[in-house]
Amino acid sequence: MALMITCAPARLAAWKEALGPLLPGVPLRAYPQEVADPAEIRWAVVWNHPLGDLRRYPNLELVASMGAGVDHIFRDPDLPPGVPIMRLVDRLLTTAMSEYVLLAVLRHHRQDAGYRAQQAARLWRELPAPDTEATRIGILGLGVLGTDAAAKLAALKFPVAGWSRRAKSLPGIESFAGEAGLAPFLARTDILVCLLPLTPATRGIVNARTLGALPRGAYVINAARGGHVVDADLLAALESGQISGATLDVFNQEPLPPDSPYWSHPRVVMTPHTASITVPRSVAPQIAENIGRLARGQPLINLVDSAAGY
Ligand code: NAP
Ligand code: GLV
Repeated sequence: MALMITCAPARLAAWKEALGPLLPGVPLRAYPQEVADPAEIRWAVVWNHPLGDLRRYPNLELVASMGAGVDHIFRDPDLPPGVPIMRLVDRLLTTAMSEYVLLAVLRHHRQDAGYRAQQAARLWRELPAPDTEATRIGILGLGVLGTDAAAKLAALKFPVAGWSRRAKSLPGIESFAGEAGLAPFLARTDILVCLLPLTPATRGIVNARTLGALPRGAYVINAARGGHVVDADLLAALESGQISGATLDVFNQEPLPPDSPYWSHPRVVMTPHTASITVPRSVAPQIAENIGRLARGQPLINLVDSAAGY
């Protein structure tokens, strides 16, 4: 029995170093070059595997995502039926995402772009004082990442609300849920943060209709998936002034093509899908834990719901 690792070649060594000591005696096979016998593969740790590949392993017992998101697994219409899929829930991933969101919120809130422009022009001028308690933040997705970011923003005294499928009861955070909760949530949101999983229900959720439902001049932060945003709609809203600016970490096409308008947009801050990067040594224990649980016949942790897609 062996574990297969499917990822970019540059990341392979770190995954082997992290998983090896936790799984003594288990061969770690890099896909595709080290996978000679599909029947020996019992567990797969994957990021963007080739479509249909996971059907090739007759003894596969577990698929683990290399990230918090699993859309890269569910984009495959030919997954092995009944094989459990786990995602990562990790302290470093969560902390890094909250740092990214706080940085983007504060950069916008404290008018950093304006002050940088003034510095370049050697201009000593006061911009209007920011009012934290009047700057309402709305987080799409109140899961592991959204909840942590919400709590940290609320600690800074921003009024924070979240939108999720099921209503939440979180101290100091206003909860909106489901289709009916979306319009009132957007209407009270000055800074929109997307931390949703990408599923058929959430694809394209940042569109002309939802952007138009925000107060004029609202700001958008997307650190979830590029597929959440309808790019033409966001660019039009930036052009019209409905949206005053955006921070984007994820894109419909990655790497972002050289001719994308986002690269040079004066009111867009972008990063190359690095809001929160998986650190293999931090997350390997939960994968090893599930392999042990499978052997002991115990319930698995961090499983995703195939029907919901997250
Ligand atoms: P999570 O714990 O599964 O939380 C997902 C949240 O979204 C939950 O609150 C869920 O509602 C809500 N949700 C899902 N579908 C919905 C729908 N149709 N309508 C309303 N709410 C819906 O996920 P997470 O760990 O916070 O991660 C979120 C996403 O962040 C990942 O899926 C990944 O795409 C992205 N991510 C990006 C980076 C990066 O570097 N850019 C890094 C890590 C993760 P319920 O609570 O009611 O279930
Ligand atoms: C990164 O995008 C993740 O899903 O962890």
